Amino acid sequence: MPPGLHYYPGHLERPQQEALMLLLQKVLADAPAFQPVMPRTGRPFSVRMSNLGPLGWVSDRAGYRYQPTHPDTGRPWPALPDAILAIWRAVSHYPHDPEACLVNLYQGGAKMGLHQDRDEEEFAAPVVSISLGDSAIFRIGGTERGGRTEALKLSSGDVLVMGGPARLTFHGIDRIHQGSSTLVPGGGRINLTLRRVTRPA
Ligand code: SIN
Ligand code: FE2
Repeated sequence: MPPGLHYYPGHLERPQQEALMLLLQKVLADAPAFQPVMPRTGRPFSVRMSNLGPLGWVSDRAGYRYQPTHPDTGRPWPALPDAILAIWRAVSHYPHDPEACLVNLYQGGAKMGLHQDRDEEEFAAPVVSISLGDSAIFRIGGTERGGRTEALKLSSGDVLVMGGPARLTFHGIDRIHQGSSTLVPGGGRINLTLRRVTRPA
């Protein structure tokens, strides 16, 4: 494990995962998944996304950014449920709450290319990632593109914390093991990525 990367396999038991799924189904009815596209080219991501919390991460032809409202509905993102905040408080070792919870929905052959999370002002806070549903092959490298990478299988209920020297590491999802979990109705994987965006005063 690279320094600053903390892996909590099975952090959430199945009943907690099911409770989270119920919560997510409710909030996603209010903030439906949208289709992000790459800046400039407009090429669609293979994942669909939504967000919870005061700020949500979006990507469109104009670029990557955080914004307080859903790009399609124009409504504020739903509040971050206490059950999700509790996970951040348990593992982040950071004294302030997150402002953004990106919901990544992986269905079919969806994956995510190697990237850094660097649209935030506050890099002292870690990125906390929660996996639900089908397992995924997560890939992580160093802070320079093109370096050596390692693979880690993330399963439903696993929590991964990228902090300290691992905060700006390149990471992505190589592939999903379709049908490996029964948690998500209709199949697939949901990843929740919690982040602090602004630097606290
Ligand atoms: C991300 O880096 O935004 C998603 C990572 C994951 O799906 O586990
Ligand atoms: Fe990321």
